[in-house]
Amino acid sequence: METLVERIDPQSPEPAVVAKAAALLRAGGVVAFPTETVYGLGADALDEASVRKIFEAKGRPSNNPVIVHVASTADARRLATTWPAAADRLAERFWPGPLTLVLPKADIVPSITTAGGPTVALRVPAHPVARALIETSERPLAAPSANLSTRVSATRAEHVLAGLTGRIEMVLDGGPTSGGLESTVVDVSTPTPRLLRHGLIDVGTLREVLGGALEVIDRRAGETDAGLASPGMLRKHYSPAVPLDLADDAGSRRVAEVSEGGLRVGWITCGGGETALTIGPSVLHIDLGSEPAGYARSLYDTLHRMEAAGVERIVVARPPQTAGWEAVHDRLSRAAAK
Ligand code: TXA
Ligand code: MG
Repeated sequence: METLVERIDPQSPEPAVVAKAAALLRAGGVVAFPTETVYGLGADALDEASVRKIFEAKGRPSNNPVIVHVASTADARRLATTWPAAADRLAERFWPGPLTLVLPKADIVPSITTAGGPTVALRVPAHPVARALIETSERPLAAPSANLSTRVSATRAEHVLAGLTGRIEMVLDGGPTSGGLESTVVDVSTPTPRLLRHGLIDVGTLREVLGGALEVIDRRAGETDAGLASPGMLRKHYSPAVPLDLADDAGSRRVAEVSEGGLRVGWITCGGGETALTIGPSVLHIDLGSEPAGYARSLYDTLHRMEAAGVERIVVARPPQTAGWEAVHDRLSRAAAK
């Protein structure tokens, strides 16, 4: 299949372009589009055949459920059988935005969308293109991140195309996404809300808004547990195609070792300003700064660029163990998982 690429204004999406994409979705097609977190790979969430195409395009295991994107809290409520107080509080504060809520699913949600499970993950995105697409297609859109399964999520249309050209109908190119990391996933189907995936909204902020208990599911527990709370907690996920080492210092020693061994190496630091003297022609060095939001915004783009530049090893200086970095640590440790 030929993948159509259409540019779209991320602030005020052109209605003609939106209409074309919406028509493809209504006809059962798969369209990649920007959200405020990462690019999503969208299809009609209530149509089994459409959702199956997402799984096929990504090579996603059928036991990993997808997030359903809707236009409003009212639309989200129609896809869930209960709406606890915690859902109200979180939706009120964070929707539209980078938060996903897991709730008991309504019957109209097909089991392929929830991977056979009793719950559905719901999100009201803020990005104007995502919103226009949901509203014009008049469909809830199932949309996992627009990358091949286990690989690094896409924050630009180029990243989507690198993995999925020829496998999907269309990509809406709205430029780089502003968040750069995925949404935070919170399960509110249990008596105590559970954080299933770290994301753009940090734990401290969630706790403040909930004003009560929040259980953080230990990702290490998920690694050995056959019944994963959330399949996105699989240990190896968000991985670049090249091996990635996490260094406990700035990484320069590891970089020197690897490049002396003859490999081209990509080196990512976090505001260390580590000396340029150690960098030879075989080292591609990028500093992502010492502030978590800015770092998160550029991390996936940097990994994609390093892959495209043909580096054979990536060395990342571990960022500080302080509040606000949880999602970055989570993704880096998965990317480094062997
Ligand atoms: O920011 C995001 O969340 C992006 C954009 C496109 O919205 N989407 C995204 O989707 O990252 P995906 O499929 O790559 O990740 C969805 C995560 C996975 O970890 C999945 O296992 C989890 O949400 N999930 C989905 N449905 C679930 C459910 N019913 N129960 C528990 N976890 C669920
Ligand atoms: Mg993903």
